[in-house]
Amino acid sequence: MNRKTWRAGIIGLGGIGDYHMNHLSKIENVKVAAICDVDAKAVEKAGDRLQLPAGKRYTDFHAIIADPEVDVLISGVSNQFHAEILKAAIACGKPIFSEKPFTRTMEEAEELAALYASNPMPCMIGFSYRYRPCFQYVKQLVADGTLGRIRHIAAHYLQEENAPMFNKPYTWRFRQAAAGSGILADIGSHMVDAARFFVGEFVQVSGLMSTFIDRRPDVRTGELQEVDVDDFTSFQSVLEGGVMGSFYTHKNAIGTGNQFNVTLFGDLGTVRIAVERPNEVHLTLRAGASHQLTETCLHLDEKTFKPMLQDFVDYLEQGGSATVPTLMDGYRNQQVLQAIIDSAKDGMSRTLHTDLNQKEGLV
Ligand SMILES: NC(=O)c1ccc[n+]([C@@H]2O[C@H](COP(=O)([O-])OP(=O)(O)OC[C@H]3O[C@@H](n4cnc5c(N)ncnc54)[C@H](O)[C@@H]3O)[C@@H](O)[C@H]2O)c1
Repeated sequence: MNRKTWRAGIIGLGGIGDYHMNHLSKIENVKVAAICDVDAKAVEKAGDRLQLPAGKRYTDFHAIIADPEVDVLISGVSNQFHAEILKAAIACGKPIFSEKPFTRTMEEAEELAALYASNPMPCMIGFSYRYRPCFQYVKQLVADGTLGRIRHIAAHYLQEENAPMFNKPYTWRFRQAAAGSGILADIGSHMVDAARFFVGEFVQVSGLMSTFIDRRPDVRTGELQEVDVDDFTSFQSVLEGGVMGSFYTHKNAIGTGNQFNVTLFGDLGTVRIAVERPNEVHLTLRAGASHQLTETCLHLDEKTFKPMLQDFVDYLEQGGSATVPTLMDGYRNQQVLQAIIDSAKDGMSRTLHTDLNQKEGLV
């Protein structure tokens, strides 16, 4: 059977846009049909590389969304345009993969959720770590009860690039109006997604945030610009089922690369994964009459796991899988980010999903 070839429009040709274009080239029935970036030079460079005609090189995202020869959109722009682009795509009925974090604010998230409720269609949010083999494997391990009842999830996500010695310049990621929040939106949102993926909804959170470096040099002028977002965020939480959660993230961790580690502690065992070794799972189980301890490092074959953008195409063709991070996953993620921010401001914990709280006897 001949499969339809999906004509993709790529919006945002920065770091992640490039990454997605590379991965798309490995998927059989998708081709990049048009590109868009506000940076005209980036459009020309990518357009030449892809040999796209002039009419398929856009600098206005409304125009690429409206192009009848674009069936599907992949958007990797800075956070401040996620909501506008999602809104325009939903209004046009055009399926979209949009990067995380979902939006900058809850106001934007609420508006999108309401619009989506009356115009449902495939919308995937870029919580990419779900697609690492170790994440997929652990999801199954939790579901089939191998670890017993889960009591605690602990995660940290650390990088080093914002440490003072690197004198990192001011970019949109350090401006609340553009990014929503700092490290929380940037990489903390991945920890929130991991917890929701493995365990379920957050029911209570208590957050702590700090800005380590409050001025950074503008890349063009060298003038110091004020940073108004968090460099450090930690949060404690209670999740569905009474599972306790402990999380911290920052980019001032000298000696770390992309250290996103997750540990789940259950009544029968413990599992540890680290995205820097995406095909490994460290499993400790205590079983049998003697309560003997077995420690295993499983090596997964990544070829047997579906890549993220393949799952997006399957979502377009066959509907969503249990793995797909949908628009509602984006919305719920944003709710948790907002609760952490609110809690960090006044030192009071926040309650979400009171229905789940009541069920678990937590309130
Ligand atoms: N899922 C992941 O693991 C992952 C990894 C990296 C980045 N991201 C997300 O991807 C997004 C982009 O991050 P990045 O590191 O590539 O940033 P970046 O600054 O390198 O690239 C953003 C690009 O978007 C373009 N752009 C900005 N506004 C635009 C608009 N209105 N219309 C068209 N183009 C526009 C910019 O010119 C730039 O080329 C962010 O939301 C980030 O959180 C996700």
